[in-house]
Amino acid sequence: MDLKRLLTLKGKTALVTGSARGLGKEIALGFAQNGASLVLADVEYPEETAKQVKNTGADCIAFQTDVSHEEEIKDLADRALSEYGKIDILVNNAGVSQLNYTPSEDQSLEEWDRIIRINLRGTFICCKYFGKLMIDGDGGSIVNIASTAGITGVPRAPAYCASKAGVILLTKTLALEWAAHAIRVNAIAPHYLETDLTRGLRESEMVYKGLIKPIPMKRFGKASEIANTVLFLVSDASTYTTGTVVCVDGGYLAQ
Ligand SMILES: NC(=O)c1ccc[n+]([C@@H]2O[C@H](COP(=O)([O-])OP(=O)(O)OC[C@H]3O[C@@H](n4cnc5c(N)ncnc54)[C@H](O)[C@@H]3O)[C@@H](O)[C@H]2O)c1
Repeated sequence: MDLKRLLTLKGKTALVTGSARGLGKEIALGFAQNGASLVLADVEYPEETAKQVKNTGADCIAFQTDVSHEEEIKDLADRALSEYGKIDILVNNAGVSQLNYTPSEDQSLEEWDRIIRINLRGTFICCKYFGKLMIDGDGGSIVNIASTAGITGVPRAPAYCASKAGVILLTKTLALEWAAHAIRVNAIAPHYLETDLTRGLRESEMVYKGLIKPIPMKRFGKASEIANTVLFLVSDASTYTTGTVVCVDGGYLAQ
């Protein structure tokens, strides 16, 4: 088995959403190092990621785009197509978490709508427009970043959990529907990661200790540990894998 050949993304074009920082940035850089051309999109212009991707020698176009705005994603798909002529890989990584963890009965509908709009609606909009490009092209591979919070409940995080559970069922539905178009659709469910999203949780030693206690590996994951799994799922190393949720969680969901 030639794993290096199976994992190469040479000749492939990939869109990574939410790629200005954190996990999305790590995924984009990993793709670039393995030969892909990149389309970067983030609600904050992903300038630093674009610079680092170009430093690897990979082609790259970057946009300030909100995944929850249909017109912006439609425009992004048009631009990606005119630049590269095709899209092979979509990673729906852009996401937000709860601004505060107040009891569910006290949470505002504004907060509910904000999270569902970005995490679930945004993922669907990107699948819709980039899936269409893949259907009209030679197929492709989509990876949606869900969460262990889409599989087990988290008290006081109703919108986040519901959005990620929705992403998982969207993944399975599209996998069934688009297998006929040679499009594989999979999800990854990370547990806590060392990114900006969890900075507040890691700042207090007491909170951090409480959160790692139920994790068999006794630590948060690193973005690179998720990016490696994304690379496997978009590459030719996983050509018979679709409709799955891969938990990358230090063993959290094994108990
Ligand atoms: N960090 C964790 O512990 C953890 C655990 C499980 C799942 N996840 C998921 O992983 C993904 C990445 O998280 P992260 O930890 O890198 O977070 P992060 O906050 O570090 O990065 C998220 C990125 O998404 C971008 N973004 C936010 N709203 C957007 C929008 N409307 N349109 C486009 N881009 C937008 C942000 O600007 C940012 O660059 C998210 O979907 C998150 O839910 C994270």
